Order: sequence, then C-alpha cells, then structure tokens
Amino acid sequence: MQRLNECSDDLVGIDALSVYVPKLCLSATGEFAASRSIDPDKLTKGIGIERMAIPDAHEDAATMAAMSIKDLMERNCLKPDHIGKIYIGTESGVDEAKAIGSYVVGMLENVYGQGSLEECSTVEFKSACIGTTYALENLCNWTALNDDSCMGIAVASDIAKYGLNTPGEYTQGAGSVSLLVKKRPRLIAIDGFAGSFSKDEDDFFRPLGSTTAVVRGKKSNQCYLMAVERAFASYQKKALRSGAVKLENGDCLTDHISHLLFHIPYPRMAEYASASIFMQEWQCLPRWKEIEAEIGEEPQLADFSDMDKYLAADAAFKRAFSNTRAFQSAFNAKVKDTTTISRQVGNIYTGSLYLGLASLAELRRLVPGDRICFSSYGSGCSAMVFSGTVQPEAENLPSGNILQLLNERKEISLIDYELLHERIRSKSVQCPSHEFALMSIDEEGYRHYDYVR
Ligand code: CAA
Repeated sequence: MQRLNECSDDLVGIDALSVYVPKLCLSATGEFAASRSIDPDKLTKGIGIERMAIPDAHEDAATMAAMSIKDLMERNCLKPDHIGKIYIGTESGVDEAKAIGSYVVGMLENVYGQGSLEECSTVEFKSACIGTTYALENLCNWTALNDDSCMGIAVASDIAKYGLNTPGEYTQGAGSVSLLVKKRPRLIAIDGFAGSFSKDEDDFFRPLGSTTAVVRGKKSNQCYLMAVERAFASYQKKALRSGAVKLENGDCLTDHISHLLFHIPYPRMAEYASASIFMQEWQCLPRWKEIEAEIGEEPQLADFSDMDKYLAADAAFKRAFSNTRAFQSAFNAKVKDTTTISRQVGNIYTGSLYLGLASLAELRRLVPGDRICFSSYGSGCSAMVFSGTVQPEAENLPSGNILQLLNERKEISLIDYELLHERIRSKSVQCPSHEFALMSIDEEGYRHYDYVR
C-alpha cells in the first residue's frame, strides 16, 4: 500500500471482517456436472470447486454489500456515526451513474434510522477484481492522516456470472466481504509498501447492459499470472528496500511470509499463481539445484525453433514443478488453507482475495507476528501485491461461523438455478427473512430496497 505518513506507532489496517454469502447454492458435482457432461472430478480437482453461491431473485450487489456491512457493525458494536467512509469495490454495479453505496446507505438507514449515515461518504471503485484493494488502500491512507476515531469500511460485493453452458459457468459465485479499516487494527496492520502492475489487456470484460462477462479463459489465466509475477517483483524490491524483511544467504522473501493470499477466481488458480511466485523466488537460490535434480532443467526459448513446442515444454515443466515435494510442502503450508471458503462459494470477483483472509481467520491460522502477503488481480488488467502483519488481538476475535453458515445453505435444483440465471424467475426461491431485499424496480427504473424482518 502506498501509505502516507507511515510511522511505526501509527499502524493502520484491517481491524475486523465480515462475510455475506447468499443462502442458496448449487452443487458443482450433482445435476450440474451431469447436465454439462463434465466429469465431477474435473470440477472438484481440476477447478477446485464444490458448490457455487447463487443469489436469490431479491438479491444484488447492493443488498449483499448492505448485509456484510450490517453484520460487521453488529459484531463490532459499531454505530453509524463511527463510520466516516464506505468505499465499495464492485464490477456488478446496479447503475451506470449512482454509486452502489448510495443504495447501501439507504438500506442501512432503514435499520439504523433516517439520516444516521448522512456524514458518511461513499464511492464505488470499479477495476474488475482489484477494486476493493484500491478502496482499502485509499481508506488506509485516509485513516493514517486522521485522528484515532476515524474508521472506514472497504467493501467487496459481486456476482460472478457467465453464460450458461460456457467454460466460465463453473467459476461463478456471489457474495460480499466488508473490512473495517482503522488505526491500531486488531487483525492485520498493513505494510506501507506495495508492488503494482498495469497493462491494457483484452482478457475479460462485461459489456454495458449485460449481466454476464465475456472472457477469453486461457488468456485470462496467462494475464493473471504475468501481472501477479510482475507486481510481486515490484513488491519484492520495495519490501527489501524498506528493511521490513532482511534476507540471509540462501533464503528469499516468501520464506519470511507465513501465508500467501491470491485473488481466487477458482481454487486451482491459487495453486498456479503460487507455483509462479515460488519458481520466480527459488530459481536463483541453491535449492533450485534440488528441483532440477527432481524434474530436469527449465526449457529455454532459445533452444526451440517452434514457439508452440516451447510453450508446450514450458507448460509441462511448470506442471512438473507443481508436483515437486518442495512446492507441495510450501503450498500446503502457506496457500492451501486460503481456498477453503472459495471451494464452497466460487468466485466473488474483488472479494475473493479477502475470502482467503476469512478462511485463515475461520481456520484459526492467523498467528500474531506472522507476515501475510496479498496478491490482488483485476482483469483488463492490473495487479497489486502488498502485505501486513497479524496483530496480537487477532487470536481473540470471535469467529464469523462462516463454514457452519455455508453448510446451512439451501441447495437448489438445476432448473431453479437456470431460471434465476436467466432472470426468468422473479419470485424468490426462499422468501427474504431478516435480510435486505430488492423489493421492486418501478416503471421509471428506480430501485426500491428494504430490510425484511
Ligand atoms: N479430472 C481431474 N482434473 C481434470 C479433469 C478430470 N476429469 N479434466 C480436466 N481436468 C483439469 C485439467 O487438466 C486442468 O488442470 P491442469 O491445469 O492442472 O492441467 C483443469 O482441470 C482445468 O481444465 P481445462 O484446462 O480444460 O480448463 P477449462 O476449459 O475448464 O477452463 C477456465 C478453465 C479457463 C478457468 C474457465 O473456467 C474460465 O474461462 N473461467 C472464467 C475466467 C477465469 O476465471 N479466469 C481466471 C483468470 S482471470 C481472473 O482471475 C479474473 C476473474 O475473476 C474472472
């Protein structure tokens, strides 16, 4: 994070987090896999997904954001006048002009009282799956510059949606994550340096008026890996220059990081991304000799006259690297647990990175003093790698019981899923109860929300 005014006594970062996931889900392995003629093992092992969260007819990115914020406020005894800013990252906006946060403020005021959030400012951050990271960066800077009472909420809320019967379909999902940002945070103090990368790429977009994304799947994977590798290299320079991490002979930056969190469009992507980063880190170290002894030398472009043959050899080498004992051990220790919730939810775009943090919190894997590295990626494309340190109070923060709530969801039939997907079904599968709901869209197009008790 490009934090202003950094001072060690003035830590800023993530104080608490809340996750909202719709109460409906679709099993990836049942009727869905059969109807698409896909081997269920491809989805659970090749993609890494078991269930996808499906928003009901009364839900959208605004209701989901309001749900995770309300939960965050209740669990942390926050009153509306404690919240100075609500910055929302989303690429599932419900309006081309009005900020999604305006709807969210309206919904929260239906619960907390009219005018209770009138001094809170709200902005929508659209930058594909990296939007909330930029929101978080802004809020860290804002809290760093203000007095201790300033608190803001960085929110992620998205519906990841692709066409029926497309390869993107099994990487769908929906949900929201809210992060409370303040000084002296109880969860993660964010380091004041970050690595960034941006490039104009045609890997993924959502045309105006469409609810489904257009994607070049394989290219999107390549853009993701290239951007995260470059942002990590930039982060590495800054982390070492800052003195926050000091390397000794034979070690590398990831040796000093306890968990590596990645944007998780589907859980296997965290494996591909961590393989790229570990390879990048280990190639110049003595331990690379052991890798080469196990899988041979890395193919070099100069040794190939045919580009396709080089790419095939390179892909085979990377796959072999992913199967090495050294990689498997690093992956199991530092990455695997971050995908626990995503396996049950699917992609939630900009919130997926923070679902990884929620997974670690739920599994009680956040140990005070540990450094956590976050690799954020947004299609189109942009990446940011930053880090933070787990704070002493992290161990005492109450669990959100997310894993239990995920088990209590209603599993819907393929037909209900398809009717909701195509927006043919306008009646909720489960009547809203104790939640925010889109009640109607009137003749002029104005949206009306309420809290249904
Ligand atoms: N049993 C076990 N594994 C199997 C299998 C079986 N029967 N059949 C196939 N597999 C494995 C494959 O071997 C492959 O694994 P490896 O890479 O280890 O070889 C894996 O399943 C995936 O299979 P495919 O290579 O055939 O991939 P696919 O055609 O199913 O497409 C996808 C995958 C490109 C991710 C597609 O789902 C897609 O387009 N998704 C949407 C785009 C996306 O998520 N992109 C990610 C990067 S962009 C980003 O991150 C931003 C964002 O959120 C969108």
